Amino acid sequence: MDDQPRPRTPLSSTPAGTPAEHTVGVWARGLDGVAYGGDYNPEQWPEEVWAEDVRLMREAGVTFATVGVFSWVLVEPREGVFEFGWLDRLVDLLHANGIRVVLGTPTTVPPAWFYRAYPEARVVTRDGVPLGFGSRGMVSPSSPQYREAAVRVTTALAERYGSHPALALWHVHNEYGVPVAEDYSEHALHAFRDWLRARYGSLDALNARWGTAFWGQRYGDWDEVGLPAAAASVVNPAERLDFARFSDHQLRACFVAERDAIRAHSDVPITTNFMAFACGSTDLWAWGREVDVVSNDHYLDAADPRNQVTLAQAADLTRSVAQGNPWFLMEHSTSAVNWQPRNVAKQPGELRRNSLQHVARGADAVGFFQWRASRSGAEKFHSAMLPHAGTGSRVWREVVAFGADLGHLAEVAGSRVEARVAVLWDQESAWAQGLEWRPSVDVDARERTDAWYRALWDDHVTVDFAHPSADLSSYALVVAPASYLLTADDAANLTRYVAAGGTLVVSYFSGIVDENDAVHEGGYGAPLRDALGLTVEEFAPLRAGDGVRVAWSGAPDDDGAHRELVADTWTDHLALDGAEVVATYVDGPVAGGAAVTRHALGDGHGWYVSTRLDDDGLRAVLAAAYQDAGLAPRDGLGAGTGRDVEIVERTGDGRLYTFVLNHGTEPASVPVTGDELLTGSTVDGWLKVPAGEVAVVRSPR
Ligand code: GAL
Repeated sequence: MDDQPRPRTPLSSTPAGTPAEHTVGVWARGLDGVAYGGDYNPEQWPEEVWAEDVRLMREAGVTFATVGVFSWVLVEPREGVFEFGWLDRLVDLLHANGIRVVLGTPTTVPPAWFYRAYPEARVVTRDGVPLGFGSRGMVSPSSPQYREAAVRVTTALAERYGSHPALALWHVHNEYGVPVAEDYSEHALHAFRDWLRARYGSLDALNARWGTAFWGQRYGDWDEVGLPAAAASVVNPAERLDFARFSDHQLRACFVAERDAIRAHSDVPITTNFMAFACGSTDLWAWGREVDVVSNDHYLDAADPRNQVTLAQAADLTRSVAQGNPWFLMEHSTSAVNWQPRNVAKQPGELRRNSLQHVARGADAVGFFQWRASRSGAEKFHSAMLPHAGTGSRVWREVVAFGADLGHLAEVAGSRVEARVAVLWDQESAWAQGLEWRPSVDVDARERTDAWYRALWDDHVTVDFAHPSADLSSYALVVAPASYLLTADDAANLTRYVAAGGTLVVSYFSGIVDENDAVHEGGYGAPLRDALGLTVEEFAPLRAGDGVRVAWSGAPDDDGAHRELVADTWTDHLALDGAEVVATYVDGPVAGGAAVTRHALGDGHGWYVSTRLDDDGLRAVLAAAYQDAGLAPRDGLGAGTGRDVEIVERTGDGRLYTFVLNHGTEPASVPVTGDELLTGSTVDGWLKVPAGEVAVVRSPR
């Protein structure tokens, strides 16, 4: 990467949510190699400390610092009165020390004066509670006063720093969608009505699409339409789904307003930090179209013993939202966080392993929250690059060593991860499926998405995530773990994919409703009838704790038995329409009926899995689907090199970079030849990676 941003299509003032041409290939200005740094909040310290900070940043190999994220009141201490002295000195100091600046717009925490002047701008919860000051989290995204104030402070920053030579990237706001995404204030009510008018055009259309004939909910006047606030019983699910869309749209409109205010004064690329799979209120496919550079924050769930798998899953979604372009890991932690019930510290080497997982999966920047641990406030027990224990600590030594590691990986920047398998993920479908009064509380979009992802991980298969409307032609295999809401158009896309030679695996409770949460005509799964050769006649969910056995058809095993898989939660009564039965229920409500099916359409195959198989069962289905897809999962790994060994490849400039990350407790060995970049050694045939270690081998492609 050179010192200038790569060529890009200028962003226009697109209304939030309208598809914009993606600015493929843009990167943070002046950040070469794999960038290294973190959030830096020096306003919490006397200025004498800043000199020590930059000296230690240089010692650690830090190349960027994210500043200003929570500093609204410092740059605008009174409404319309700006003070930049401290920020001028800070940005100049970083610049003088060769550290690039990622500049935050501080709009996630409006100052106390704002709350006092505009109390009606506060967010109101679904139960009607207005949320006050003293914490963080923006005010109502629909408040005109908030939007005006946010654009004013953003404009002031863009005018002042938009051309500063230290500036690498604009970081708008912080983690849109948390801690609250939905707002039930008066401002939201009026904005929701406007949004619905624009979406449906007429009240008749709204009544039809929301199905208000049910329970006598018909609206006779726009002013009768309210917010889906707490009510006596279940609120109209189509209304709630639209409110989720609207709430996300309002946040995105705030982003777009700030982005365009910056763009008027600065051509430095713009991002905002996402939380892939950790924030259920933002539709990242829509957000990804609005930013120049995709960035993500990721925090491990300490209670999850295999949290390396969910880390990889978040990284893969981030890369997919970035359309395969390099992305920016804006935040993760050096050790423990402070906000989980039990904040487990990272083991020695875990910081490095976690960080390199993100790099393996496409990140060209590694950032932490935060540089120096806070002495006061809600996050004083959160780990940092420079912990309370100072430079005499293990964490600091690992931070410094990792900076050197990234120096050895500079050439990896700009290379790409290529996946032959896609897992479908649609946030709107997850919103719809997550509403009340579904056939079983045990059916969960994330649960199945995570399970299929885990099964693919265990087979060492690298995946992209894709929206069901995406061009899927580059994938040999597509897995649809949770496509409850599937529009007729998207179902047609999947059907075309199969007919053209693709292999599609669909899990239960898919193709059920349209974009308004109305059941598709023709029965459950009707839009996928051609692809799968079946529909679902009736759901047969199981009682809590009940399981079913599923027998694989075809040739028996060596001992004469048919392979049996175990499942729970869900079964279906299927109406077969051409599909072949691959596995049958041995017991349960559908005993004797089809459990797993395969259907030939055109040059491809559609698989259907009608029950919640355990991970081994999913891998059995995948093993068969790989054959249809012409995929050969990685084999020939050394003894003991099992599912805890992560192997991911990045390619670029005729080179292949093989990342091997050993999350297990046994040494791993992987067949590869080339130059190991972290140690500078040569690998001839077999790479040995001790438990907990990482290796990155460059070979010709
Ligand atoms: C992030 C947030 C940071 C910090 C961090 C702590 O979600 O953006 O400001 O709070 O969590 O883990």
